[in-house]
Amino acid sequence: MRILGIETSCDETGVAIYDDEKGLLAHQLYSQVKLHADYGGVVPELASRDHVKKTIPLIKAALNDAGLTKDDIDGIAYTAGPGLVGALLVGSTIGRSIAYAWDVPAIPVHHMEGHLLAPMLEDVPPAFPFVALLVSGGHTMMVEVKGIGEYQILGESVDDAAGEAFDKTAKLMGLDYPGGPLLSKLAENGTKGRFKFPRPMTDRPGLDFSFSGLKTFAANTIRANEDDLQTRADIAFAFQEAVVDTLAIKCRRALKQTGMKRLVMAGGVSANKYLRQELEVVMKKIGGEVYYPRTEFCTDNGAMIAYAGMQRLKNGETTDLAVQAKPRWPIDQLAPIK
Ligand code: KG4
Ligand code: ZN
Repeated sequence: MRILGIETSCDETGVAIYDDEKGLLAHQLYSQVKLHADYGGVVPELASRDHVKKTIPLIKAALNDAGLTKDDIDGIAYTAGPGLVGALLVGSTIGRSIAYAWDVPAIPVHHMEGHLLAPMLEDVPPAFPFVALLVSGGHTMMVEVKGIGEYQILGESVDDAAGEAFDKTAKLMGLDYPGGPLLSKLAENGTKGRFKFPRPMTDRPGLDFSFSGLKTFAANTIRANEDDLQTRADIAFAFQEAVVDTLAIKCRRALKQTGMKRLVMAGGVSANKYLRQELEVVMKKIGGEVYYPRTEFCTDNGAMIAYAGMQRLKNGETTDLAVQAKPRWPIDQLAPIK
């Protein structure tokens, strides 16, 4: 069985074909980063207009790459939410319409479930149950995962998401959008110990996060110091260290609370090398394992949507002909797979 996956929830157009026996057959990605860079963030209307242009050519390219035709596709999975509604509507409408025309089922996929399951595309996938740290540009969540669709949110950000905090702090430092990866690069030349940022909400029990204070702390630190490249690198280092340390503290807490030894991290920020290193150390200490997707599947992509859609289609889930687009859609409302 083969599923075509379509992702258009934010600023990347992603298309992929997943085969339940052979694995991933093709994946195509178009990033709108350049389109939004001049504005310092994603402009929703521009995102939608660009998805309209790119989605169908990418579907054709993915079919060509896999050496398949439309007759080889058994279902279409599309991201139905959460995300920017106009952007979602493009992929949803195209996905639903193609499924109708090709006479195959359409499967609306939850974007964060896609991220959460992305490590399943790797050679050594995690077994259930596990604790998942989801860190993207729009969400930061700690989730207890017993199986597909069995998600209990243990904690989430009360303000900015981790990726959003990276991007906003990067912007303060004059870096282009999305600044997360650029800030991380800058931090590589930073001096450990010159600045010390707080570890928000770690001094009280619980698994919620708050990252907006770090951005303010960064702004104040920038203002109070000379503006040279080394200082910027030192501030980037201290900011990244604080985010990573905070995430690591909460991961340890979540693992202890649930009694689990398997940790999955996914979403754009899971591409961060320093975060990967630190979580490897945490898991080594407790004799557990950490799993994350290959770098290109940390950020938005069609492969994770095709994979998640495949699991739900195999579970016999079907939908009517209505196009689904849900800008807000809590992950714990998903149905468990039987
Ligand atoms: O998952 P994603 O592609 O989109 C959402 O679903 O939001 O995540 C994008 C976010 C951006 O905020 C980006 O700056 C951040 O992930 N990001 C990183 C790194 N790579 C991507 N943040 C820190 N370090 C990185 N290496
Ligand atoms: Zn995402």
